Amino acid sequence: MSEAKRAAGYRAADMVQDAMVIGIGTGSTVYYMMERLAQRISEGLCVRGIPTSFQTEIRARELGIPLCSLADVSEIDIAIDGADQVDPHKWLIKGRGAAHVRERVIAASAKIFLVIIDSSKCVLKLDGPIPMEVTPFAVSYVTTELAKQGTILIREGVKKDGPVISDNGNFILDYSVGVISDPRALQQYLNNVAGVVGCGLMTEFSDKIVIIEGGYDNKKG
Ligand code: 5RP
Repeated sequence: MSEAKRAAGYRAADMVQDAMVIGIGTGSTVYYMMERLAQRISEGLCVRGIPTSFQTEIRARELGIPLCSLADVSEIDIAIDGADQVDPHKWLIKGRGAAHVRERVIAASAKIFLVIIDSSKCVLKLDGPIPMEVTPFAVSYVTTELAKQGTILIREGVKKDGPVISDNGNFILDYSVGVISDPRALQQYLNNVAGVVGCGLMTEFSDKIVIIEGGYDNKKG
């Protein structure tokens, strides 16, 4: 799948135009996009990126991609990001990398949202675990509430004992309900549970999403 991710990432980077402000998502597919973007910058492309995570910020600095903050701009021209699942409505599950809260802010601020994926991410119905960012004080309450309708797990660190702590200082819970029959309603419900900072279901961006799948294009609209 990494060749498909590379193809998607490179295609997205090739759509970037001079003087654009780019929201830069998080993850392995985004890494390929940054790799190609850095090549284009070394050839004279002039852009600024806004990273959605510490990982992306560190990689962008290593690659020589100029960065700015959201407060420096009035609008983002293109947000480019990966996804864990995409359905035919262009509704998404995001947050395997625990960056979905910042990723949502960047997508909301952007005129166009390029979603870069390999074909394994395309599903007819969303059914994956939904990452939930939860303020630590509320974890026991949120866990009890959500366990009434599904399975909820506190995400554990790799090379760190105990829970994953997000870039915003919160816990990440992974919530599974099987096939999600009404993703919009579930997103609204989850984001209204007290203590939830944000869930990884994203159903509000379909109108501005362009899917770039491996070597294939999937038009807007
Ligand atoms: C991070 C994300 C990622 O964009 C998503 O998990 C896809 O990652 P990858 O491109 O590595 O498969 O939402 O929070």
